[in-house]
Amino acid sequence: MADIFEKTSMRDMLCGSVDETLVGTSVTVCGWVARRREHGEHLAFVDLRDRSGVVQVVVDGSVDVRSEYVIKVTGTVTARPEGTVNAALPTGKVEITNCTVEILNAAEAPPFQLDDRNDIDEQVRLKYRYLDLRRSQMQNNLRLRAKVLRAVRAAMDRQGFCEIETPLLWAPTPEGAREFVVPSRLHPGDFYVLPQSPQIAKQLTMVGGFDRYYQVARCLRDEDLRADRQFEFTQLDIEASFVTQDDVMRFISEAVLDAAEAATGERPSTIESMTWTDAQDRYGVDKPDLRFGMTLQNVSAAFAGTDVKAFSAPCVKAIRVRGGADFTRSRLDALTEQAKGLGAKGLAWFRVTTDGLDSPLERFLSDAEKLAIRAVDGAEIGDLILMVADDFATASKVLGQIRLAIGAPPVSQGPHRYVWVTEFPMFEGLDEDGNPMAAHHPFTMPHPDDFDLMETDPLKVRSQAYDLVLNGWELGSGSVRIHRSDIQARVFRSLGISDEEAENRFGFLLGAFRYGAPPHAGFAFGVDRLVAIFAGEENIREVIAFPKTQSGSDLMTGAPKQITERQIRDLRIKIQPKA
Ligand code: AMO
Repeated sequence: MADIFEKTSMRDMLCGSVDETLVGTSVTVCGWVARRREHGEHLAFVDLRDRSGVVQVVVDGSVDVRSEYVIKVTGTVTARPEGTVNAALPTGKVEITNCTVEILNAAEAPPFQLDDRNDIDEQVRLKYRYLDLRRSQMQNNLRLRAKVLRAVRAAMDRQGFCEIETPLLWAPTPEGAREFVVPSRLHPGDFYVLPQSPQIAKQLTMVGGFDRYYQVARCLRDEDLRADRQFEFTQLDIEASFVTQDDVMRFISEAVLDAAEAATGERPSTIESMTWTDAQDRYGVDKPDLRFGMTLQNVSAAFAGTDVKAFSAPCVKAIRVRGGADFTRSRLDALTEQAKGLGAKGLAWFRVTTDGLDSPLERFLSDAEKLAIRAVDGAEIGDLILMVADDFATASKVLGQIRLAIGAPPVSQGPHRYVWVTEFPMFEGLDEDGNPMAAHHPFTMPHPDDFDLMETDPLKVRSQAYDLVLNGWELGSGSVRIHRSDIQARVFRSLGISDEEAENRFGFLLGAFRYGAPPHAGFAFGVDRLVAIFAGEENIREVIAFPKTQSGSDLMTGAPKQITERQIRDLRIKIQPKA
C-alpha cells in the first residue's frame, strides 16, 4: 500500500507499492526499464524499477522503450491472469495495463546488466558506480547504512550528547597512519593535514566545557587499503567528561545495540568483556572472533620437563580441530608453512585415532605427554590437535592465526558476537630508535597501578584503552585520556618525543590542558565496518557509495589526477618527475 510521502507531482506512488488492493484504479508511476519482453506481435511486458522494487507494465509493442530508459507510466492496476502470478514479487499479483507511456529520458545500453548477479567485474561496477547503485544489493546496503546512522545518532542524542563538527583542514594528529596533506595557497610552503580522526579537536571540546560530544566523522588516512580499510571512512566518534571507562562503554553499547536492533530486528542482550591478556591467551589476537570455539589451550605444564626438543620452550599451546583428522598432508604442510611465516619454528600436528595419536612426533613423546595431547579441549577420535611451542607471545599469535585460517566463518555467517577487550598495553614494541611505540595514541591514560613502570619497564604498562570487537573485526577503540599536562609530558618523553617536539606539534593541546581540562574519555567506532557486518559483506567498499579501489583510485572520476598548471603555480608547488 502506498505511503502518502511517496506521492509527488509526477507520480502517485512507488513501483513496489502497486498491489492487489489497487485493482481497478488508475495509477501513475515513474522509473527505469529493468527488462522488456515481447509478447506476440503487439504487446510487450516491461519491468519498471525504482528504489522500492519492480512492477510489471503491459505496453503496446510499438512503444520504443529499452533497458534503463526513464519513463512515466499511467495505467490501470489489473489482476494478473491465472497462472501468471509471481509469488516471489510483492507486486507479483498485479500488472499495469491500458498504459500511456511518457519517455522522460532515453538511455544508452548499460555496460552491464543491472540485476542481482554477483559475478559482475568490480572494476566495471566502480567505473559506472551510478549504475551499480541502481542494483538492489547497493540500494539495500546504503539504506541499511542510513538506518544504522539514524539509530546511532538517536542513541547519542538520547544520552545527552551534542553533535559538533570539527575541521577537515587541520594539523597533524598522531593516530599512527600516514596523513593526507593539502597545500595552502595563502601560505606557500605550508600544508594543512586532513584529520585521521577528530581526536585532538574532540578533546578540546571537553576543555571547552561541552561535556558530551559526538560526531559522525569523516576520517582520512593514507594507509594500505584492505577489505576493512579505505582512505576515507566514517566513525561514530564520541568524547565525554567526568566519566570512567565503564561510562564510555555503556554509551557506546547503547548506540551499537540500537544500531543492531535497527539493522537486524534483534537487540543483543549485552556485550561481554575480556582483558587484552585473556584475548591473547585464549584467541592469540586482540580482536577475538567468538563465533567459533577452537580456543588456545595452554599445555606448558605437561611439557615442562620434556625430552622433545621441539617442545622445550617456555610456552606450549594447542588447539583442537574438530573432525580435523582427515586434513590431508598437503593441507598440514601448508599450515606449517603459514606458522613458520608467522615466526614459529614449526607446527606440530597429531591426529586422534582409535589407536592413539598419529603423528611423526608420536614416538618421541612420553606417556604423560601423549595423555595431555589426547585430552586437549576434550578431544575425540577423528579430531586433530595442532601445537606451537615458543615464548607466550609467539605461540599465542601463531596459533591464533592458524585458528582463524582453519575456522573463521564468512562475514555473512552469524551470530553477531560482540566483545569488549580492555586493559590494552600502553606501548607495543620499540621503534627504530629503541623508543616504545604508543599502542593506541599518545593521549591515552596509563593504568593507575602501572604509573611507576613508565620509565623503568614501559612495555609492562597497561593503559586505560579498550576496543570493541565484532566477529573478529575491530569495530572501535577508545581510552581514558590524559588530562594533566605533567602526565602527558611524561608519556611523550617515554615515546621519545622531546619537550621541544611535543611543544611544536601539540603545544596548543598542552596549552589547553593548563586551563582546566576536565577528566575525560572517549571512543570511536567504524560505521563502514559495522554496516558491512550487518550487510554480510566481506569488503567495506560494498557499503560505501563511492569507494576507492584497492590501489586507491576512483575509477569513476579518475582521481587522483593531475591538476592544472595554473593550480600548481598558485600553490607554488613543484612536481618531481616520476622516479
Ligand atoms: P582508531 O584509529 O582505532 O581510533 O579508529 C577507530 C575505528 O575506526 C575504524 N577505522 C577504519 N575504518 C575503515 N578504514 C580505515 N582506514 C580505518 N581506520 C580506522 C575502525 C577503528 O576501530 N581517535 C581514536 C578513537 C578514540 O580514541 O576515541 C581512533 O581513531 O573501525
